Amino acid sequence: HAATSSPISSALSHARSENGYTEIDWDKLGFGLTPTDYMYVMKCSRDEEFTEGQLIPYGNIELSPAACVLNYGQGLFEGLKAMRRENGKLVLFRADQNALRMRIGAERVCMPSPSVDQFIDAVKQTALANKRWIPPPGKGSLYLRPLLLGTGAVLGVAPAPEYTFLIYASPVRNYFKEGNAALNLYVEDQFDRASRGGAGGVKSITNYAPGLKPLERAKKNGYSDVLYLDSESGKYIEEVSTCNIFVVKDSIISTPPTKGTILPGVTRKSIVEIALENGFKVEERQIAVEELLEADEAFCTGTAVVMVPVGSVTYKGKRVDYQATNANSMCKRLMSLYSGIQNGLIEDKKGWIIEI
Ligand code: COI
Repeated sequence: HAATSSPISSALSHARSENGYTEIDWDKLGFGLTPTDYMYVMKCSRDEEFTEGQLIPYGNIELSPAACVLNYGQGLFEGLKAMRRENGKLVLFRADQNALRMRIGAERVCMPSPSVDQFIDAVKQTALANKRWIPPPGKGSLYLRPLLLGTGAVLGVAPAPEYTFLIYASPVRNYFKEGNAALNLYVEDQFDRASRGGAGGVKSITNYAPGLKPLERAKKNGYSDVLYLDSESGKYIEEVSTCNIFVVKDSIISTPPTKGTILPGVTRKSIVEIALENGFKVEERQIAVEELLEADEAFCTGTAVVMVPVGSVTYKGKRVDYQATNANSMCKRLMSLYSGIQNGLIEDKKGWIIEI
């Protein structure tokens, strides 16, 4: 049950400035958690559907020690951003895609899920309730984190009798400490992220903790993130622990296909669509790690990460560097098309932008 009583870090008392913004130093934002004012909570039991939720002050939630999510990891998360445009408009990007992905994931882990409309409405409400935390244009965005959790108590392995859909929000800017600078990726050859028939293709919370050890190790050795290979052959690139990956060779853009072991990123899908519409050749196919090492360029995409070039890849002790800073790189060209749609400089012909 969500507790409204003793939020540990409710930000409601945070200084409010005259101009409608929270008084924080927007230039210091990274991807750390900044607690905001409200969160959205909606509950239902196993044999029901979600009906109505509400905004409550941001704070801790109370769970049974036997909650399915705590014991057996029955939980999904999503991530999307509310942005403030120069003209003051507040927008979301393709929130329907996050809603659909949550519905697919919920089916995989036996949970009821909000409808697409309920999801989008809840995201809008959460963004508006925390409006003063949406950064000024160009200073970042308000990251919205929907959770779908099996919060009911179980002891034997079974779906929870009760579910909670919750959304909290935090203003964010760059995910990596590198900012938008090129990433140094370590190709992981000991641990796998996902296997055939598993849950790697849905945003299950259980996909992330097993990645902490390889990530910690890579970071300790100076790398930005870990790139996983397919678990069957160990030959093909799959995804980075926080984002999808693209490879460019002779102006052909390639990315591994999302067939169950790779998280189908909304940014990934959008970049593929934008590239095709702008006349670039795009291939979704298996990419051997050697191909990555011989590529002209590589870049990563994700909601949190947005688009960042890969500066180097290290595989079995061999490091390859890319000309990632080239102003004419595919990453830069696609990024300006992608961000143009988000900030309104390029007309949104596909209904990707949702005004709130
Ligand atoms: C996102 O990009 O929104 C994600 O959920 C990735 C997460 C690992 C930060």
